[in-house]
Amino acid sequence: MKLCIVGTGYVGLVSGACFSDLGNTVFCVDKDVNKINLLNEGIIPIYEPGLEELVKKNHKQKRLIFTNNIENAIKKSDIVFICVGTPTNKKNNSANLKYVYQVSKQISKYINRYKIIVIKSTVPFTTGDKIEKIIKKKNNKKLFDVVSNPEFLREGEAIRDFIHPDRIVVGTNSKKANKMLKNLYESIIKRSGKYFKTSRRGAELIKYASNSFLATKISFINEIANLCEKAEVNVEDVSIGMGLDQRIGSRFLRPGPAYGGSCFPKDTKAIATIANNFKTNLSIVKAVIKSNDKRRNLLLDRVFEIMGNKINKKIITFLGVTFKPNTDDMREASSLKMIPLLIKKGAYIRYHDPSGIKKEFKKYKQAVFYKDISKACLKSDLVIIHTEWNEFKTINFKKVVKKNNIKIFDMRNIYSPNKMKKNNIKYFSIGR
Ligand SMILES: NC(=O)c1ccc[n+]([C@@H]2O[C@H](COP(=O)([O-])OP(=O)(O)OC[C@H]3O[C@@H](n4cnc5c(N)ncnc54)[C@H](O)[C@@H]3O)[C@@H](O)[C@H]2O)c1
Repeated sequence: MKLCIVGTGYVGLVSGACFSDLGNTVFCVDKDVNKINLLNEGIIPIYEPGLEELVKKNHKQKRLIFTNNIENAIKKSDIVFICVGTPTNKKNNSANLKYVYQVSKQISKYINRYKIIVIKSTVPFTTGDKIEKIIKKKNNKKLFDVVSNPEFLREGEAIRDFIHPDRIVVGTNSKKANKMLKNLYESIIKRSGKYFKTSRRGAELIKYASNSFLATKISFINEIANLCEKAEVNVEDVSIGMGLDQRIGSRFLRPGPAYGGSCFPKDTKAIATIANNFKTNLSIVKAVIKSNDKRRNLLLDRVFEIMGNKINKKIITFLGVTFKPNTDDMREASSLKMIPLLIKKGAYIRYHDPSGIKKEFKKYKQAVFYKDISKACLKSDLVIIHTEWNEFKTINFKKVVKKNNIKIFDMRNIYSPNKMKKNNIKYFSIGR
């Protein structure tokens, strides 16, 4: 099949690469000319394990085409995927759908034969209805179907998730569109995924409800970890004990910093806002949003406590600054709040992240990127393990820090408190 992907970001690029690898011809479009130029030169603008090989292979075989020419890409395609961003509208916490509607207007101009318009971006229910209205203004209804097909991939595991998804959700009432999408996903469905067809609004809500539920799980265990600290109970035992119950499951039950990333923070806010518009109070989701906001300050308070409130002129090293490992995505990472605040209190920040230097910290003279983990830790007053990259799992801290009174705040519970104690390291972790 011939596909057009509009928006070549984390979701669009991964989807484009994977669909082309399945034998389809894919036009990846982006309004960012620089991004398209880089991709055409074989440079991948994001960090995602395995993506570079997949992109290069399919680009070379001319199945994966990067272009700014949206007209040509749409006209030549059977299916058009909308994969643009839907960030938070800061005024009212709703999803900002400006990019989605811009693309819809462009699509409406270039429909030359029957096409399916698939919304892969995460959008509030009723967005599909609005897109349909936009396209209908310029086109006969028989010439297109607007379908919701939310994406569930996780950054860092994106290719595996795309090829081996738990489920493929398709929201449409059109038999024709459903048949074509089933064909497109056929080999993925055969391999592992379950294909679930529902209404368009149903599919839109499934995505928001799923992300809100996962965010709830994280916030829940984070609060239980707070209790464990007071009650002298090991939160890891609680996670294991709870997770063994198949109704609960063990995933997303590990405490840590506030949840971040490009999805959970914005999607929880957006679902709560659209529910308000539908006169429904999602009080649980609202409580989760509050709990997560509080957590950012709570862990900072913990840093002050560990340092005896003496932050001025102290060297604090962050191991990892991204919101999770195996991605370079900094959107809503806890480090974005913590580092500026610690700098304000006079700290010298060093940071190492396997995905490289971050433009977000360039404006701070006191935040310095270190390529080398050992150099970043050397003579630090406090090392904060912020992100669970594999690189941080086997560090001999006594050797690399070279300070007798070293302090480590392990926000990911990677290390054993007992072993740290034996090595005379002042070690702090979460909920244990
Ligand atoms: N990142 C994830 O892990 C993830 C997972 C599942 C779903 N989603 C959802 O998928 C959507 C996209 O997320 P992302 O992380 O890939 O975003 P992104 O910001 O990485 O990429 C969006 C891309 O769209 C491009 N764009 C914007 N307007 C355009 C236009 N008019 N024409 C062409 N290109 C345009 C931007 O230049 C950018 O490259 C969001 O709704 C998000 O919630 C993201």
